[in-house]
Amino acid sequence: MVTFTINGKVIESHASEDTPLLWVIRDEIGLKGTKFGCGIGMCGACTVHLDGQATRSCLLPVGAIAGKKITTIEGLNNEHPLQKAWVDEQVPQCGYCQSGQIMQAATLLATNPNPSEDEIANYMNGNYCRCMAYKRIKTAIQRAAD
Ligand code: FES
Repeated sequence: MVTFTINGKVIESHASEDTPLLWVIRDEIGLKGTKFGCGIGMCGACTVHLDGQATRSCLLPVGAIAGKKITTIEGLNNEHPLQKAWVDEQVPQCGYCQSGQIMQAATLLATNPNPSEDEIANYMNGNYCRCMAYKRIKTAIQRAAD
């Protein structure tokens, strides 16, 4: 059993300790906002926060997070400035990668509240969007930073 906090709630996971956190979040806890894309840490669809840092939950065994704090897209409660900017800029096309994009961007703004275009591009570089919404993603991040 592994005990950790997710979106402010203490959880006891009964999954085996090598189960990727992504599947504990989706299948055991039932929060479906965190997505499976590649399963090998390449796409960013599964991005969550681990003690405030953007982390790929498909690569993280649940046994490694005992006592830690996880935040998923649901934990932003539709109150994060990025979520409003995402709506205002109509960022998503299919929407599949967007929770990972927002979770990644949220850690950028937490450490760098006014990033340059290059800083946004570098920081978001590993989060793929197959609809190619990159320009709108960048604009929304700039809007949230204003
Ligand atoms: Fe985790 Fe692609 S599903 S990085």
